[in-house]
Amino acid sequence: MPEKEQHAWWKEAVIYQIYPRSFMDANGDGIGDLAGITQRIPYLSKLGVDVVWLSPVYASPNDDNGYDISDYRAIMKDFGTMEDFDTLLATAHKAGIKIVMDLVVNHTSDEHAWFIESRKSRTNPYRDYYIWRDGKDGKEPNNWESCFSGPAWQYDEATGQYYLHLFSKKQVDLNWENPKVRDEVYDLMTFWCDKGIDGFRMDVISMISKDQRFPDGPVKPDGYGDFSPYCISGPRVHEFLQEMNQRVLSKYDLLTVGEAAGVTIDEAKKYARSDGKELGMVFQFEHVGSENGKGSIVEKWTTGKPKLQNVRAILNKWQTELEGCAWNSLYWDNHDQPRCVSMFGNDAPEYRVRSAKMLATCLHMMKGTPYIYQGEELGMTNTHWASIDDCRDVEEKNAWQQFVIDQKRVSPEIMLACFDNMARDNARTPMQWDASKNAGFTTGTPWIAVNPNYTEINAASEINDPDSVFNYYRKLIQLRHEHEVIVYGKFIPLLEDDPNIYAYARELDGKKLLVACNWTKDEAPCTLFDDTNGTELISNYKEHKKGALQPYEARVVLL
Ligand code: GLC
Ligand code: CA
Repeated sequence: MPEKEQHAWWKEAVIYQIYPRSFMDANGDGIGDLAGITQRIPYLSKLGVDVVWLSPVYASPNDDNGYDISDYRAIMKDFGTMEDFDTLLATAHKAGIKIVMDLVVNHTSDEHAWFIESRKSRTNPYRDYYIWRDGKDGKEPNNWESCFSGPAWQYDEATGQYYLHLFSKKQVDLNWENPKVRDEVYDLMTFWCDKGIDGFRMDVISMISKDQRFPDGPVKPDGYGDFSPYCISGPRVHEFLQEMNQRVLSKYDLLTVGEAAGVTIDEAKKYARSDGKELGMVFQFEHVGSENGKGSIVEKWTTGKPKLQNVRAILNKWQTELEGCAWNSLYWDNHDQPRCVSMFGNDAPEYRVRSAKMLATCLHMMKGTPYIYQGEELGMTNTHWASIDDCRDVEEKNAWQQFVIDQKRVSPEIMLACFDNMARDNARTPMQWDASKNAGFTTGTPWIAVNPNYTEINAASEINDPDSVFNYYRKLIQLRHEHEVIVYGKFIPLLEDDPNIYAYARELDGKKLLVACNWTKDEAPCTLFDDTNGTELISNYKEHKKGALQPYEARVVLL
């Protein structure tokens, strides 16, 4: 018998991520806003999701679209006011939808009041809120490269020292060693909890504790050092999270999910430990990064696509190894990833709908809490980047500057091909609501171009089509709400060496679920269902074939 899993509302929930800038623009300035989200709550109710995770909505100069916060207790002007936020929260709650906030506390904006003070003098009371170091031989304190290209240290004339920024130079790393910083973070979290929010998604939370020796990292092909060994799951990260848990999280009933790029299984078991002393779950990145840096053009950039064998091995490992000791999060997409139907599926018109449904099935029948990223439920696709001028993302702009312009390691054409494949902006094109101008996202000029395929792919047409990707997601969500085995059943991998098919079973209290997905555009041999006579819960085909799965066919049978 499988172990009895501790029940929790957030284990039974389906989460929907909103990237507010691109979701719905209510006032016609071309930028999505809180009032726009409030307008679309009925849409989310119809889809049936339990929780909305809002990417950051706090005051920000938007160097990284809100992941650079200048005031944690204020709303970004582009998105509206605190009143708009309160209305959104109340409207969502009335509809039975919970709200999870993004918590970005590895770094603040350089325009945050703390940093404005900190950089004034070496003796300023806020100096120690950030990580300042002397240079070495007239250069940076060490060789670390930032995630967005170039050195992770920025020289500041005023005081003659460098500050650390693992992301852009306008995203300054906080010094978590300083107890005052931690107090500030717990206070601002409490502020939001007292407002009645339902949880936090914690941005790059695995990076808050740095090795205080600040050693050089292993040198990468571009000459910079890799900070990961000294910043990812650093020396005090679990201590800090346990403190945060005691001081804030344990006082409320929250969903907590830590973004944890580079996290290992062993570390994940600590972050998401089932005794609830740290976080509810983490986002790991192995399955979305299996091609990154491989056969790649430069650094993470590639035109390659993930292979079933790799993705399956990674996800099966996470499923089986966390069994009974920690909880998984499940996702293909978020605001940092290309669109899953383009990356893992097949966005050619003849396969798009089928493969989008197949991917959804493959993920939503697994054990863990599923996350849907806005537009994924419509089968939205990557777009085409014809010029760097169309891109908006600081990561893309910096990579272009470094690899195309400065180092000339890659031609503009090839870099753009990489962008078509995996640029974050693919996820950030406006939500496609209907076939009217700008996809119904705005009456103004959208801050980033709408994907031209909105006339084909949009919510209005899908809601009324029983065979749409939207209605398929709706059904997957319903099934999870109806069948305990989908939430708590033990995961059992099947056909682990099959070249075409991702298959597994789930088991709970004598109930068994059989799931099989053909990841290819060709018919693939499969006898899993031939001698079973269970109930089909969902499939993207009406008719099945004995001994085979049809192109991108997905089947779920309850025995
Ligand atoms: C996380 C966010 C990403 C952001 C980065 C820095 O990875 O998801 O969008 O750029 O952190 O805050
Ligand atoms: Ca707006």
